[in-house]
Amino acid sequence: MTDETRSKPRRLTINILRHNPSDPGSEPHMASYQIDETPGMTLYIALNRIRDEFEPSLQYDFVCRAGICGSCGMLINGRPNLACRTLTEKLDAEITLAPLPVFKLIGDLSVDTGEWMRAMSERLETWVHQNEAVNPDRLEEPMDPDLAEEIYELDRCIECGCCVAACGTARMREKFVGAVGLNKLARFRLDPRDQRTDEDFYELIGDDDGVFGCMSLLGCQDVCPKDLPLQTQIAFLRRKMVKA
Ligand code: SF4
Ligand code: F3S
Ligand code: FES
Repeated sequence: MTDETRSKPRRLTINILRHNPSDPGSEPHMASYQIDETPGMTLYIALNRIRDEFEPSLQYDFVCRAGICGSCGMLINGRPNLACRTLTEKLDAEITLAPLPVFKLIGDLSVDTGEWMRAMSERLETWVHQNEAVNPDRLEEPMDPDLAEEIYELDRCIECGCCVAACGTARMREKFVGAVGLNKLARFRLDPRDQRTDEDFYELIGDDDGVFGCMSLLGCQDVCPKDLPLQTQIAFLRRKMVKA
């Protein structure tokens, strides 16, 4: 290889599944765009280039660009991941992007995870429930630091939806709460300030839309960009449910 060819940037071909459901004339189709790779290029930068240079109508979501807001989840070569944290240099020169399945499509790579997450949170009542009969003054006991650390770890979920998109059960069962929902319930089950009983938790997730719908397919944990211990939490809940 000569110095000249070595310094030439890679030419990337980015195939994008495009569809705008609010346009009656729109049909799902693949569109291909070619751009030159630049050092440190992420898919966020690549998509901005495509939108600026070729396709101003291209829809996709980004807010933080730092793996924090959870808005940029998409299928990258068939696997759910955050586009803002994905370097093109880690991928082949031909890249295929599609919107996350399960969630409502807004257009192109943009999906409405918010509506799904809100419905799941309302169904599972993902907030601390205090019982005035048990704790009339609502006093907080100091929390064991190891337990606080464990809860903090589970709170790192950014609701990106990647675990839901990777889950075969979520694709088949519309109301399945997914690993994200089970992780949240495990978090509240651990929290001593939440005075819900085992029976209360059973009511919420002791069915096929909850912990018994999970078939241990493991895709959720494989794709979680925050590396949350989803399997451990699901197994923990299942043990608690069997005893309840
Ligand atoms: Fe995303 Fe992981 Fe939270 Fe699922 S559990 S929504 S993959 S951060
Ligand atoms: Fe789905 Fe994860 Fe269970 S992929 S089936 S929630 S182990
Ligand atoms: Fe916020 Fe990617 S833009 S996580």
